[in-house]
Amino acid sequence: MPTSKSENNQIHIKKLQLHEKNRLTLNKYNVTAWFYDILDFPWELKYRKWRPGLVGDMRGNVLEAGVGTGRNFKHYHHSVNLTGLDLSPAMLKRAQKRSREASCSIHLIHEDACQMEAIPSDTYDWVMAGFLCCVLPDEFQSVVLQQIERILKPNGRFRLLEMVYSKNPDLRKRQDFFTPFVEKVYSARFDRNTLDHVKDTSNLKVTGTTFLKHDVYQLIDGVCEK
Ligand SMILES: C[S@@+](CC[C@H](N)C(=O)[O-])C[C@H]1O[C@@H](n2cnc3c(N)ncnc32)[C@H](O)[C@@H]1O
Repeated sequence: MPTSKSENNQIHIKKLQLHEKNRLTLNKYNVTAWFYDILDFPWELKYRKWRPGLVGDMRGNVLEAGVGTGRNFKHYHHSVNLTGLDLSPAMLKRAQKRSREASCSIHLIHEDACQMEAIPSDTYDWVMAGFLCCVLPDEFQSVVLQQIERILKPNGRFRLLEMVYSKNPDLRKRQDFFTPFVEKVYSARFDRNTLDHVKDTSNLKVTGTTFLKHDVYQLIDGVCEK
């Protein structure tokens, strides 16, 4: 799947067979793509400090699922063969522009992370997904994790960054205030319980969890033991 740098700019937009909820997500991100980086700017001020550490240690064949506008690209090691996957063609086009900032080779593909039909099994050393599972409808949490399990090589590693509800009442109040906004604009929720779904996926083993800020931005690290 990973290709040479000369193929960086090819995106093959497919007619995906999607569940209705994923079709709605695609349509939403096709619209927000036009102003996504502006909309996300207040949060990106925080995320940009985390991004080098999020992907900088990854090597080999790496798949980033829900790649968005490609904010992580410039932080990947130059030796990485990166596949960037997203449901939304408009987000992929933004990512395509940003791929010029990267020093690694990047292959962008239009795919539903719940299906990953174009991705062969046992291919990736790493799978990265930032703020993807919090966007995926509840019924697809385990589906996407099974796909991650399938495409990882034995002992391949994964890293997920998610938003969860805080136990701090003040923070929780703030989250409750923003919940309708994040759901309407990003299809994201704080109650996806992704960590529990990872623990329920037979070959995915959690090796560590940390919070990058408060008890809200949860980083899940793991390995595929198959
Ligand atoms: C909140 S954005 C996060 C973007 C990026 N990961 C970041 O950190 O800035 C979620 C992204 O996931 C994509 N997405 C949502 N559902 C998806 C699915 N089923 N398959 C692939 N990508 C999906 C959206 O199109 C969007 O680009």
